[in-house]
Amino acid sequence: MKTKTSLFFLAALFSANSLVAQQKKAASATDQKMNTFIDNLMSKMTVDEKIGQLNLPAVGFDVTGPILSQGVNEKIEKGLVGGVFNTFTPQAVLKLQKLAVTKSRLKIPLLFGYDVVHGHKTIFPIPLGLSASWDMDLIEKSARIAAREASADGLNWTFSPMVDIARDPRWGRIAEGSGEDPYLGSLIGAAMVRGYQTNSLSNKDAIMACVKHFALYGAAEGGRDYNTTDMSLIRMYNEYLPPYKAAIDAGAETVMVSFNDINGTPATANKWLLTDLLRKDWGFKGFVVSDYTGVSELIAHGLGDLQTVSARSLEAGNDMDMVSEGFLTTLKQSLKEKKITEEVIDMACRRILESKYKLGLFENPYKYVNEELAKTEILSAQNRLDAKNIAAASMVLLKNNNQLLPLKRNAKIALIGPLADNKRDMIGNWSAAGDWKKAVSVIEGLKNAAPDMEITYAKGANLVDNPAILKQINANGADITADAKSPKQLIDEAVNAAQKADIAVVVLGESAIMGGEATSRTNLDLLPNQKDLLKALSATGKPIVLVLMNSRPLTLEWEDANVPAILETWFSGTEAGNAIADVLVGNYNPSGKLTATFPRNVGQIPLYYNHKSTGRPYDGISNEKFKSRYIDSSNDPLYPFGFGLSYTFFDFSPIKLDKSALKSGQTIQATVTVKNTGKFDGHEIVQLYLQDIYGSVTRPVKELKGFQKIFLKKGESKKITFTIDTEMLKFYNSDLKFAAESGDFNVFIGSNSRDVSTAKFSFKL
Ligand code: BGC
Repeated sequence: MKTKTSLFFLAALFSANSLVAQQKKAASATDQKMNTFIDNLMSKMTVDEKIGQLNLPAVGFDVTGPILSQGVNEKIEKGLVGGVFNTFTPQAVLKLQKLAVTKSRLKIPLLFGYDVVHGHKTIFPIPLGLSASWDMDLIEKSARIAAREASADGLNWTFSPMVDIARDPRWGRIAEGSGEDPYLGSLIGAAMVRGYQTNSLSNKDAIMACVKHFALYGAAEGGRDYNTTDMSLIRMYNEYLPPYKAAIDAGAETVMVSFNDINGTPATANKWLLTDLLRKDWGFKGFVVSDYTGVSELIAHGLGDLQTVSARSLEAGNDMDMVSEGFLTTLKQSLKEKKITEEVIDMACRRILESKYKLGLFENPYKYVNEELAKTEILSAQNRLDAKNIAAASMVLLKNNNQLLPLKRNAKIALIGPLADNKRDMIGNWSAAGDWKKAVSVIEGLKNAAPDMEITYAKGANLVDNPAILKQINANGADITADAKSPKQLIDEAVNAAQKADIAVVVLGESAIMGGEATSRTNLDLLPNQKDLLKALSATGKPIVLVLMNSRPLTLEWEDANVPAILETWFSGTEAGNAIADVLVGNYNPSGKLTATFPRNVGQIPLYYNHKSTGRPYDGISNEKFKSRYIDSSNDPLYPFGFGLSYTFFDFSPIKLDKSALKSGQTIQATVTVKNTGKFDGHEIVQLYLQDIYGSVTRPVKELKGFQKIFLKKGESKKITFTIDTEMLKFYNSDLKFAAESGDFNVFIGSNSRDVSTAKFSFKL
């Protein structure tokens, strides 16, 4: 990345022709074959047909809005559609693909896209949960299974991975990404791309990935969805851009533009972003698609009428218009008026045709249509088993006083809470084609895992009874009605059940539809009616295990102070209940670690571990006035990034460095011995952080640079070594040059970003 600051402000004069020429030059022999094929095809295409390839209407079921594109069939026949989304199943795909390849003049096959975000029909944990596994093999596997199911269902393109860094849990879409860390987010983005695309899009069950939302969508002001982002370039390059870049380097074939405005220009019309950075600096070769009505939304952003904004978006580097039909209905006019050139249209069209070629659609447009495969692949026993294991690995044990968990098999359990006997919410938001009726509830899971356990169930509270939230989520597809029993009756029943039991397992949290797109919240406490229930149960004096389901970090100060055991399970998918039960009864020892900080209160947001030091840092103890602190709250999070307990205990030795000084090109080995001192075998995620103590610019107090997920039998110890190389010391400086600087560095190794031991080395260029 060599972009100079000035490029951001000056619209780059970037010739369409020269870019095509440059790309052609670099082409390999296979590319040459593709180029010849596409040259030949494009030579036959009319301007209308070329513009048609840039059109992506929604067909059929749609979760984000009304079906805006009318008369799609006719448009396909006329060659005015490049792909469709929201349609799947071999039958539906066959029908539409047949129209394209038998009725349209040039028989160009369609793309079939869909939001396969955390599984297609076998649903995995929401991405924030998946990321808490810190397990690249499992994450890649989840994407592979999703791609196998989606491709068996006729799809060849998923709108995933979502790699937006998010430090604000008010933003509901924090659920869809991998949290706050650029290093971890980069590894996860790349793993998902590999899982979807395999090593070649020509493979039979490979589908195109789409990195989204480019860019900075997670930094919306106030955590309010679609809101403005305004950010320094140095922050952008160091903290927000790396995951997009990593997913593109992993070969992602497509990129989706974000809805937000970036430093004054909406991403959908941002030439610096979509052309200079993405294509020129990063060398992205695939195609760019707008997000939903992103093109026509430029009107509301205040950039002009539909014709103006469509031309501007295409010129900026957006190749495909999702839903708006601004390209379809205005580009020809803009061409006539010489507001755009045919070369720009050609370039976008070529990129889309190239992707179709790489997928093998010209050889076999029905490559993804296979009814038999759909029957055997989708929701297979093996896929469900993998989903259960992946879900268990995503759960984070936040508290476990007196080793309350795992549950004793002979204990009498009161299972309480609106999410304990619930299937609908288990698959979480953006669960694509997932069918909640196939999901396993916690009560079912417990019966499977421990058939002899004595369990009584009481609902205890409505899932949601806050009128404002209820009104909003029911209007958006939730189906929540108040229980016939009064809130008091529900609580009394639950208290009664708890009193008769040895232990209460209370399953609380959000409704799944309170997370994901357009679900920003200003209060992150448990909903008041659920909290009333928890307080009443706590007053019984019975030990309580709180099992949480939620799409985002919540503020849990009261719960942390009053409830002895807390297990964060996110929304963990089709196998949620079985996985949760496995963890509760100790068939699986939890090992997940948070990838987003849990604040104490909303006022602390944004709160993230890799922050800078101020000139007046607060030590957390003194009463000195002029320090960077709150007078009514600690600065510290409730649960820090990287945090998560196990049923066993791990001891970390001090860090040993094999040298104390490092020169360019050399490496240092940092070693710790980790010992499992508890009573269970278990996984630990050993984390390495570095701090550049003095820099030419302010540097974060620590940054994750490596981790190892290890397994230790009880009593076992292992030496864990991290190799620190000089690449790890580099960052984007004020000239946006990626370079390391001489000076001293702290090394931190530990079980989370807070509990670490420290060592120091010096580095000389
Ligand atoms: C979302 C995208 C999604 C698209 C298509 C939009 O509203 O922002 O993430 O891929 O809809 O469903």
